[in-house]
Amino acid sequence: MEKQNLDWGNLTFSYMKTDYSYVSNYKDGAWDEGGLTPDHTVTLSECAGLLHYCQEVFEGLKAYTTKNGDIVCFRPDQNAQRMYDSAQRLCMPPMPKDRFVKAVEDVVRANASWVPPFGSGATLYVRPFMFATGEVIGVAPADEYQFRILTTPVGPYYKGGVKPVKLRVSDYDRAAPRGTGNIKAGLNYAMSLYPSVDAHANGYADNMFLDPETRTYVEESGGANILFVKKDGTLVVPQSFTDSILPSVTRRSLVDVAKGYLGMEVEERPVKFAEIGEFVECGMCGTAAVISPVGEVDNGDEKVVYGMDHVGPVMKKLRETLTGIQSGEIEDKYGWVHKIDVE
Ligand SMILES: Cc1ncc(COP(=O)(O)O)c(C=O)c1O
Repeated sequence: MEKQNLDWGNLTFSYMKTDYSYVSNYKDGAWDEGGLTPDHTVTLSECAGLLHYCQEVFEGLKAYTTKNGDIVCFRPDQNAQRMYDSAQRLCMPPMPKDRFVKAVEDVVRANASWVPPFGSGATLYVRPFMFATGEVIGVAPADEYQFRILTTPVGPYYKGGVKPVKLRVSDYDRAAPRGTGNIKAGLNYAMSLYPSVDAHANGYADNMFLDPETRTYVEESGGANILFVKKDGTLVVPQSFTDSILPSVTRRSLVDVAKGYLGMEVEERPVKFAEIGEFVECGMCGTAAVISPVGEVDNGDEKVVYGMDHVGPVMKKLRETLTGIQSGEIEDKYGWVHKIDVE
């Protein structure tokens, strides 16, 4: 299979059409068979539930080429489960998990020429999403839905090496206590756009959001979970007592890497903002970057500094181990790397 003629190493994180998307429709209480389509547009009724009551959930994962040339993606079953949970929370019919994984395989296989070569640092970003197409005018769940997957090639997250970033504590919340912060719904991101634009305008990579009930505990950033390291090398993973942190696939994998590969101690517990000055490293984790080291967190005039000029050794080791497992250079002992057969 001939690869597309792209400058893989210089792609940005922006949308580029590939050959196919995947589409399946839900009507009369059932999902249709679904399949690939070369049509990358969606036509909707002006009264579609999506447009009025925001019934939309999505996922994000990546397909890439391993060292030995296989096309793979990372733990798609976890994205299937999370989208299942997200859909149920918004009264949408969940896509069966085996069908979700098969749809990811089908669309990646059909776009194999768009999967970047090993070593380029680029990936094929896979975006499954589901939205209400059925008409509703009173506040209620719709009765028709569409599930789609689009793919788009994206460049390496870090060009020229991993660099620490700055966060600031936001005056806004990204989620409500016991609201929808623990699911991946577009509505959460609408809510975080204003603080995100404002953070960027003020020179920060992202916001650190505190718990929306007491504003005392660390939750997560606009697009990643947060990790800390204690002086004794223990990994500290903030938990939300208001259930408003997104369960990141990367974070859960890093916890398993820390325990099962690196023999580290891990504490998963609520973390007070007041204690983060005692930690020696901080990072954000998510599919795109795996780990972005955080060099500084500002809260008004208060600054917590971990160091903007170096990446802490624990974040470095965790990142290298997980990316090594993903690329096939380190043994995949938990069976996370999911091969897609391409003829
Ligand atoms: C709010 C938020 N938290 C965390 C994550 C990281 O999750 P994952 O590791 O599954 O990409 C993301 C990205 O999907 C996110 O949008």
